[in-house]
Amino acid sequence: LLTQQDFAGETVLITAGPTREELDPVRYISNHSSGKMGYALARAAVQRGARVMLISGPTCLEPPSGVELVAVESARQMYAAVMARVPECSVVIKAAAVADYRPLVRAEGKIKKQGDLLTIELAKNPDILAGLGQLQQRPLLVGFAAETADLQVNAAAKLAAKNLDMIVANDVSQEGAGFNVSTNIARLLFRDCRVEPFELMSKQELAELILGRVREL
Ligand code: CTP
Repeated sequence: LLTQQDFAGETVLITAGPTREELDPVRYISNHSSGKMGYALARAAVQRGARVMLISGPTCLEPPSGVELVAVESARQMYAAVMARVPECSVVIKAAAVADYRPLVRAEGKIKKQGDLLTIELAKNPDILAGLGQLQQRPLLVGFAAETADLQVNAAAKLAAKNLDMIVANDVSQEGAGFNVSTNIARLLFRDCRVEPFELMSKQELAELILGRVREL
């Protein structure tokens, strides 16, 4: 009631969490994403009056009240869930840590232990954000860049390659930033080459900042 409703009338799609790529019925490849950044964005957007669709990989988090949660596991499921809903959205924020590759073959039964070395062949997953960037009628697009080196150069390259309006760059090797913590150290990069660096802050505070910039754009 006390929050300014500056997203009233907007439909915002947010992706969050990791994806899981199954190897067999009992194993998968994934990453350390907790989903906290995406859930913080979803909470902030709902409070500011948006209709929010939260497409989430597996996390331990409680979905914020008022969001429409769509639970997915693999990158391909996330791709399908996003593409089916994007025509309704004015903004898409892709905080999910999507697995770039999946096992080429998912074994029907549990893979049995054999020799000392095991090689798993991986196939590339679709890049959801790059697909969104190529749509004729695309919503405002915000990506994330998780880097461990050359933060700004790599993030700027992703902004251009995926045709984004803004990218949130974070050096996940820094303490207090990135995966599985409640804080982040981010810099925002824009299409007009502006760069806005921020100090350490909570993911909830960063979510509010990101939405503020989205509103301006
Ligand atoms: N992303 C996506 N689909 C993928 C991979 C990434 O939509 N298959 C999105 C992420 O949600 C994020 C952005 O693209 O918003 C950048 O993700 P990141 O993992 O940092 O970059 P990649 O493009 O995967 O490049 P690399 O792993 O080589 O750094």
